[in-house]
Amino acid sequence: MSTIKSVAIIGAGASGAAAAAAFASEEYFEKIRVFERRESAGGTWIYDSDPSPLIKPQPGKLPTEIDPPLTIPKNLPATLEPSPQERYHKTPIYDELTSNVPAIAMSLSDIPFPYGPFVPHNVPKQYIENYFSAFKADQFLVLNTTVEDVSRAPTGDDRWNLTLRQYDPVEHVDRWWKEEFDVVIFANGHYSVPFVPAVKGLEAFIEKFPARVIHSKSYRTPHQFANKKLLIIGNSASGHDVTAGVVKSAQLPVYQSRRSPSRWDGDKPDAGVEWKPIVKEYLQTGEILFDDGTILDDIDVVIYCTGYKVSFPFWNSKANGRPIFNYKENRLIGNYLHTFLTDFPTLGVIGIPRTLTFRSFNYQAIALARIFSGRNARPLPAKDEQRQWEEQRWQSVSSQHRRFHDIAWDSGETMGYLRELYEIAGLPRIEGQGQTPPILDAETRWAIKHVRKYPVPGDEDEDGQTDDTDAGWSIVERGHCKDSLHFL
Ligand SMILES: Cc1cc2nc3c(=O)[nH]c(=O)nc-3n(C[C@H](O)[C@H](O)[C@H](O)COP(=O)(O)OP(=O)(O)OC[C@H]3O[C@@H](n4cnc5c(N)ncnc54)[C@H](O)[C@@H]3O)c2cc1C
Ligand SMILES: NC(=O)c1ccc[n+]([C@@H]2O[C@H](COP(=O)([O-])OP(=O)(O)OC[C@H]3O[C@@H](n4cnc5c(N)ncnc54)[C@H](OP(=O)(O)O)[C@@H]3O)[C@@H](O)[C@H]2O)c1
Repeated sequence: MSTIKSVAIIGAGASGAAAAAAFASEEYFEKIRVFERRESAGGTWIYDSDPSPLIKPQPGKLPTEIDPPLTIPKNLPATLEPSPQERYHKTPIYDELTSNVPAIAMSLSDIPFPYGPFVPHNVPKQYIENYFSAFKADQFLVLNTTVEDVSRAPTGDDRWNLTLRQYDPVEHVDRWWKEEFDVVIFANGHYSVPFVPAVKGLEAFIEKFPARVIHSKSYRTPHQFANKKLLIIGNSASGHDVTAGVVKSAQLPVYQSRRSPSRWDGDKPDAGVEWKPIVKEYLQTGEILFDDGTILDDIDVVIYCTGYKVSFPFWNSKANGRPIFNYKENRLIGNYLHTFLTDFPTLGVIGIPRTLTFRSFNYQAIALARIFSGRNARPLPAKDEQRQWEEQRWQSVSSQHRRFHDIAWDSGETMGYLRELYEIAGLPRIEGQGQTPPILDAETRWAIKHVRKYPVPGDEDEDGQTDDTDAGWSIVERGHCKDSLHFL
């Protein structure tokens, strides 16, 4: 039987909820703590109606530069002035945002969403909070508390020292302390630190016209852009939604710069939208030069919908011997199944792969909980084999120009991946300890394949109407080059 008794989970979003439920269900661990820097559980789905102060776009900069670790006070415990450092804790949820994965596939084990297929953002938020309570795991939440440092304990037995900072909203102070754990689960999400690509002249353009460039993380409502001349960069989920939102009231056309077509892009843009290629250069005159030589002038706002980068400011590379993430290759260093860290067997990571979101977090969380309680059905392979898996995946995705943590649905890769975790976890004990990994039955797989939020051009019935357009979603069949879940 495992000697592991204490578990720290970083983050109380959907990944943290899945982890807390899985570890609680084992009825094995003596101490479980879920450290969450926000005032409630919910993660991405917490709605911050006020995005300010707006984050200044930092072209080409990575989280290692723009989300650095805080300086840890020398003597702990300590009570200090609250830290003013930007930690990117606010979320990107905007007024009109609805989910983009059908509820049947998005929900965690056992507990369905109240309705679907696509729900307003308050539903996943409530769902995550309720999920904690359903497993009596809300008792493990330590809120307003940021994990500022994770360092291997000097004892050499794979335990972890956490440095914690809790904001006290009554006395407006930060309380710092340390705690030691046997296991740490990283469920800290990867949609906090916005990414803006480096483009010639962009940095100087932002300096000269400070309010003219924002990231979609700060977008809340189309009203703020009424009658404005807009350039939207990107056409994935954020680029699509922001463009569709602003086109109702902005000056037309709304320009959208695309690097590659999305699955839902047809041969021509929607009414009111004009496509542009990528930006080649921002000029000090205020003009914007595109790759095809065309120029736009007098753009009021450029909205960068170019996604996010995962950040681990709490990972102490010095104490732990190496960094945890390779930003050049966009991957966790030394991982097995996107979940286990070969060199750090008492760490787990949930939520990194771009796959079925909530449901996939269950498989990762349950496999981890079963391993750390010593009740897993199948052992993890030896370290050499884990490294071999990682190397083979890297070779394979590189040759296909794919990202390491993007798991395709159409090719069956997702099912194969989740099956691995399912089989490692196995069933709960006959006495009931442990959580059963979820199933992906025919109905769920059908919904993933057919029920889509973003109407795909060409998937029209005989009257030229896409199915169920009134409901704001469509049933699709057509094949496209990008994976059908590429937008996740
Ligand atoms: C705009 C937007 C829309 C989305 N829409 C969908 C959708 O429709 N359907 C879908 O399935 N997915 C969607 N996603 C993806 C979404 O992020 C995942 O579904 C899911 O919510 C991720 O959960 P998570 O727990 O892994 O991360 P998060 O939800 O980001 O939660 C991580 C938590 O960790 C906390 N945290 C981070 N660092 C620390 C620290 N050092 N100490 C303490 N706490 C910390 C954060 O405050 C946060 O609460 C969307 C993402 C974005 C950005
Ligand atoms: N529920 C919803 O409706 C909803 C709404 C918004 C976001 N989301 C979720 O939020 C997450 C993030 O989505 P996102 O759309 O913000 O980010 P994203 O999916 O990472 O997409 C980034 C976009 O930026 C483009 N891009 C990246 N680097 C670029 C560069 N150097 N030059 C030009 N273009 C570049 C990409 O083009 P390429 O495609 O060519 O790479 C892509 O269009 C996803 O999980 C998504 O599902 C959900």
